[in-house]
Amino acid sequence: PPLKKFVDPLPRPMTAISDPSVYPGADYYEVTMRQSSWRFHRDLKPSPVWGYWATNPHDPHRPIGMGYLGPTFDVTMDHPTVVKWRNELPTTHMFQKVIDMIRDKAPVVAPIPPPPYKYVPQFPDDINVWNVVHQHGGYTAPQSDGLPEQSYSPKGFHAEGYTTLDPSRVKPNEAIYGYTNHDHSCMLWYHDHAMGMSALNVYAGLAGLYLIRDPADERLGLPRGEFEVPLILQDRTFHEDGSLAYTMTDREGEDTPVVNGKAYPYLDVEPRRYRLRILNASNERFWRLRFDVDPRDAILEPPLPFWLIGTDGGFRAPLHMLDFLISPAERYDLIVDFSRVRPHTKVTLTNYPGTQVHFPGIPGCGPEIADIMQFRVTKQLSGGGDRTTPPEKLKLHSVAPIEPKPQTRRREWVVYQHQLYRTMTFNAVPYMEPSQDFIEEGSTEIWEYINPNHDAHPMHVHLVNFQVLNRQPIDAARYQTDYEKWISGGRKPKEHPVLANYFTGPPVPPDPDEALSYKDTVKAPAQMVTRIIIEEFVPPTDDIASIPNSGAELPATYIHHCHLLEHEDDDLMRPWTIVGPDG
Ligand code: C2O
Repeated sequence: PPLKKFVDPLPRPMTAISDPSVYPGADYYEVTMRQSSWRFHRDLKPSPVWGYWATNPHDPHRPIGMGYLGPTFDVTMDHPTVVKWRNELPTTHMFQKVIDMIRDKAPVVAPIPPPPYKYVPQFPDDINVWNVVHQHGGYTAPQSDGLPEQSYSPKGFHAEGYTTLDPSRVKPNEAIYGYTNHDHSCMLWYHDHAMGMSALNVYAGLAGLYLIRDPADERLGLPRGEFEVPLILQDRTFHEDGSLAYTMTDREGEDTPVVNGKAYPYLDVEPRRYRLRILNASNERFWRLRFDVDPRDAILEPPLPFWLIGTDGGFRAPLHMLDFLISPAERYDLIVDFSRVRPHTKVTLTNYPGTQVHFPGIPGCGPEIADIMQFRVTKQLSGGGDRTTPPEKLKLHSVAPIEPKPQTRRREWVVYQHQLYRTMTFNAVPYMEPSQDFIEEGSTEIWEYINPNHDAHPMHVHLVNFQVLNRQPIDAARYQTDYEKWISGGRKPKEHPVLANYFTGPPVPPDPDEALSYKDTVKAPAQMVTRIIIEEFVPPTDDIASIPNSGAELPATYIHHCHLLEHEDDDLMRPWTIVGPDG
């Protein structure tokens, strides 16, 4: 039977507590990855899940976490964080059956790249559990970035790129990473990034929030405390016994929306403004979201309007909206005013198909999940009323446009799906091939994601924030054919398809919700080139809290990838390198 909706209260992830005494000048945390159990819904039995637990410096017997997902970091801009990430997961994967199935089918689905590249498996066959944590969107040195090749197992097996700060303080199943927090006031997140395993590991629960605050935010008059609500959106399926089923291979039940770990939760709210900080932490699903109200309960015509005040990398000029499309890893920071409906109204956060003219080929945007969660305006207005600033009066800096210059370098990334092996890569080069993209420190570049296939992909670049420049439709079929030809012809530089020969229309400006915003993830629709502009490739070179070797050195290699996690594991990911002036 379908799950009863809106019977579980929305959980709120707990906040991790730091110990400032370990590394003077930094906040220190210890976080352990563990398997435990979690009930996704009142009527489901508890499921095994993976999650992060933060050590409680005040009481070692009461670690901070809920089992599924992880505690929230709530940190101050520019004050660094040091985290010891400990791997105490079981040595057999929660989705071992899925892994065995994929391995059985290896000749078809394993990432065999097209010639001339040879794929070298990086991990011994008998290790199915290895992990590494990436702080998504952060300004972080490579040794703390949590790249796939930095993975390590519960038993202390290290991938060849394993790194840790302060090695004398770690056991083999641990790594210490440092985060500069030289970011804008924003909501980052952290999640598993293990080589070839991110999709299964994140699905099992390895994700959490990382809030960076600017003390000056206090003066903005934003809703805070219980009126600032993070929403981690995911879709999950369940076996009949209530345990998690891996959607791609293993589904028994319906696709179910899960917010902060609960299926179809509800939240009782006061008739006042709330700040909702939304993360799409789904493996593959895009959501088109709006706040539905029964017309009889609405004071204005539904759906309930809201204001967008920030995106992935920080605040932006407030934008009045009715709905938006959020792809995996994107964040939307909203002000919703629940005094704009009648008392006792139920406001439903809904995913609806909407128009897909701009974004053909979006997986999971369709009707199979409609209702997500409910806000019930049942509480009395407390504290003598709502004293927050009306969104239209908020003093948020608008983001200055990065202007391309004629000499700005363009870099092409072709989403290439091998016809035979179905493996996805950028530019038909597998992830494990060493970096071929060298970017001079401090330079500005335009990256062009050329997507000739039928799906939209969310593209994520580590380290930097960028702006969306525009998109342009291309003759995808012809581009794909010519690109294939170029590969089978031995990739002669002179024969590389020239993008300008494939345009079928003029460039389209970014949508209002992504224009003039700090982005780290961008939707790259099917049969289009999506252009982003990245200003100043500069890695953080200062040491964190005097820990030796914690700052970046040149050359500094980072990655970018599709944030459909199955695509990331399937090689739609490449390194790139920041180099000094002499290469
Ligand atoms: Cu959200 Cu490379 O990751």
